[in-house]
Amino acid sequence: MLLSFLPLVAIASASPLRPQADIPVYWLLAGDSTTAPNGGWGDGFLATTVASNSSGHNYGHSGATTASFRAGGDWGKVIQDVRTYKNKYNIYVTIQFGHNDQKETSGVSVNQYKANLERFAVEATSAGATPILLTPLTRRVFSGDRVVQNLADQRAATISVAQSNSIDFIDLNIASENYVNAIGKSEASKYNLASNDWTHLNEWGGVVFARIVSDLLVEKFPELASVTKKNETLSALVKAGKPA
Ligand SMILES: *[C@@H]1O[C@H](CO)[C@@H](O)[C@H](O)[C@H]1NC(C)=O
Ligand SMILES: *[C@@H]1O[C@H](CO)[C@@H](O)[C@H](O)[C@H]1NC(C)=O
Repeated sequence: MLLSFLPLVAIASASPLRPQADIPVYWLLAGDSTTAPNGGWGDGFLATTVASNSSGHNYGHSGATTASFRAGGDWGKVIQDVRTYKNKYNIYVTIQFGHNDQKETSGVSVNQYKANLERFAVEATSAGATPILLTPLTRRVFSGDRVVQNLADQRAATISVAQSNSIDFIDLNIASENYVNAIGKSEASKYNLASNDWTHLNEWGGVVFARIVSDLLVEKFPELASVTKKNETLSALVKAGKPA
């Protein structure tokens, strides 16, 4: 009996100010090209997983690091939107970076990446939103019949920031990697934005990986079910590791 209460207690204590479920959500998506229009999951998320009356904006920016997203003004727009919409909506800010931060030329160390993620979350919270950190979407580059795990450091850093600061997170990296491993290279290639682009997603790929994001969110934060549009067929295919 006691054990069955533990997960509930954990959720409640991690998110003491969890908003009421019956208010629509405004989603603000912060990230790089793997979230952005024309290559990421963000537009598919807003178009196919968000229930009526809820809404949002995809601020994913191709090439962005956690540093350039702030320096270039994108983060300022996210915070401005939190202030604009918070009286009518519960605001959730998804924060997903790593693909560009990890490049040697980025000028962003893993420690700076962690500090930048934490600062995004702190500022989103104080502006009136609920931030959710996402570990970075997997690339779909194969070595033999397995996906190359080349975002492990960014995944670990994101989880570490979330856990040590009680910030909500979902592990998109592992969920997306598991799915791509399950369907294999040939099926995974059908989501490529261009035939040789194993990072960015075409429109249908955006819908499929947005469904993975949405299912992870609802699994972790059940109160989001009422503001989420389901696609049980697609969710079942993903869960079974079958091509969609
Ligand atoms: C959307 O908002 C309208 C007007 O406030 C309300 O009547 C309706 O029930 C809402 N629909 C959903 C699905 O929440
Ligand atoms: C739901 O998923 C199925 C299976 O992938 C797909 O064929 C269908 O178009 C999706 N429905 C919507 C409304 O997106």
